[in-house]
Amino acid sequence: MDENLRQKFQHARSLFPHTDKVVYFNSASFGPFSTPVKEAIEENLRVRVAAAFDDTPGVMEIEDQLRSDYAGLIGATKREIGIGMNTSFGLNVAAFGLPLEKGDEVLVSEVEFPAQVYTWRAAAEERGLKLRFVKPVNRHFDIEQFEKSIGPETRVLAISFVQYFNGYKNDLAAISEICKKHGIFLVVDGIQGMGVEPIDAKELGIDILSSGCQKWMLGPQGCGFFYLSDRVRDRLRHPFMGWLGVDWKMNFTDLFKFDLPYYDSARRFEMGYYVALNILGMKASVEIFKDIGIPNIRQHNYMLIDRLADYLRGSPFYSITSIMETRHRSSIFSFSCDRLDDVYQKLSDEQIIVAMREGSIRVSVHLFNNEADIERLIGVLEQFFSRKP
Ligand SMILES: Cc1ncc(COP(=O)(O)O)c(C=O)c1O
Repeated sequence: MDENLRQKFQHARSLFPHTDKVVYFNSASFGPFSTPVKEAIEENLRVRVAAAFDDTPGVMEIEDQLRSDYAGLIGATKREIGIGMNTSFGLNVAAFGLPLEKGDEVLVSEVEFPAQVYTWRAAAEERGLKLRFVKPVNRHFDIEQFEKSIGPETRVLAISFVQYFNGYKNDLAAISEICKKHGIFLVVDGIQGMGVEPIDAKELGIDILSSGCQKWMLGPQGCGFFYLSDRVRDRLRHPFMGWLGVDWKMNFTDLFKFDLPYYDSARRFEMGYYVALNILGMKASVEIFKDIGIPNIRQHNYMLIDRLADYLRGSPFYSITSIMETRHRSSIFSFSCDRLDDVYQKLSDEQIIVAMREGSIRVSVHLFNNEADIERLIGVLEQFFSRKP
């Protein structure tokens, strides 16, 4: 890593006050706030409490910049981006909006996060679709099993970019090829990779991608976006409709206009006003990602994870439960051991924040972490099993 980049990471760490006390490895649950996020939110609170002017146009302008920012981060155009509130929002646009017929089949993985599963389950009940589960191999989505599961009625694959519990990154390029060949819509839950794994939605041929920004994007809960490819947008039904799905040209003085055309963009599926505090906080957070660059963040995170993985490989007490193959690894890393609950508790006592998921300890490494954080974690792990009973 060159000196300039190292300094950027050092500076980024200084933006996160928690790093003085807490070793935070849990961005896969939710991201901590940086000072710029906090200040943006506080400033909006101040303006709203003062109530001296209507700040809505300014917030809407920033919201529009956010659409461009999100587009830039995933290789899309602004037209393909809508602001949502979380991951589930865009998944609902897909599940209730895609042109599907009664009897059409939707495939989801048996190890999928519930956001896809419950959304599609409700859509299946409502629309008469069939929900079918793809068997995992080694606790991850498997392409061969996927191909075997495809039948004449299969119309959708609903899948995560990165699996939430072991960090397995799906090979979306290969998956997308198969979807194209069989005329299957590809609907991706992007949240566990967004901000730490580069992704080019257009190049990958993703039809719909949705991501909350409360985790790796280090934004407030209630922030997210969805990508609707140009290919599918005009074929979607409206699962719901908000009054800001049409273009008011920022003129809100005469609202008795009931025949405005819908936006010719993903914005058509947005749902009225969003929380200004969130939008402004989110914009502040996105700037950090634009400045450092997602490929650099990935490289930084992998380097730290490699140090931890090296230690665990050399220990008789721990086993790595993540797949470390370059194509499939991510910034989520998991390992297991005996007395998992006790190890987790010991880490919490030492202010090292990790998560327990599906029988493993999950370590989420992000841009504000550094070597010292990893060494502190290793120190506690080392000490745990070497203590006399
Ligand atoms: C893969 C995945 N999807 C979705 C979510 C959350 O969904 P939402 O943003 O709709 O709350 C999580 C974690 O909370 C997740 O791990």
